[in-house]
Amino acid sequence: MRRIAVTVNGDPREAEVEPRELLVYFLREGLGLTGTVVGCDTSSCGSCTVLLDGESVKSCTLLAVQADGREVTTIEGLAANGQLHPVQQAFHEAHGLQCGYCTPGMVLATVSLLAQNASPSDDEIRHALEGNLCRCTGYQNIVKAVKAAAA
Ligand code: FES
Ligand code: FES
Repeated sequence: MRRIAVTVNGDPREAEVEPRELLVYFLREGLGLTGTVVGCDTSSCGSCTVLLDGESVKSCTLLAVQADGREVTTIEGLAANGQLHPVQQAFHEAHGLQCGYCTPGMVLATVSLLAQNASPSDDEIRHALEGNLCRCTGYQNIVKAVKAAAA
């Protein structure tokens, strides 16, 4: 076991973890943050997306020990004081919301995108979200939601 110290959604957390434990399981099972979801076995769906030091990562591709000393934001950490994060609000208003598997990852990937590019084009949005899969829709409203959040 290894002791790690991670700031999760602004709270300092310490835990003993197996060196092989994936970050997604540490978040879900260790900390009870079940908004981070496991949607595939192949690192392809993006439903496990979190922010690591502000940048979106697939938490099924990282070990919990790799988050040691770093800052993780999950979907539970976005709303503050009862107010949705502007990206969550935009997804709500532009009907970009979909199921509980794909939406948290889409929202977090969007937060990361807009931190780097405040006014992305449609192509840049689609490129930034290409690692976040939804098999149910055509992404039109998601792109609209990202544009609304940027505005
Ligand atoms: S669960 Fe991580 S990419 Fe699918
Ligand atoms: S995978 Fe979430 S709505 Fe399609």
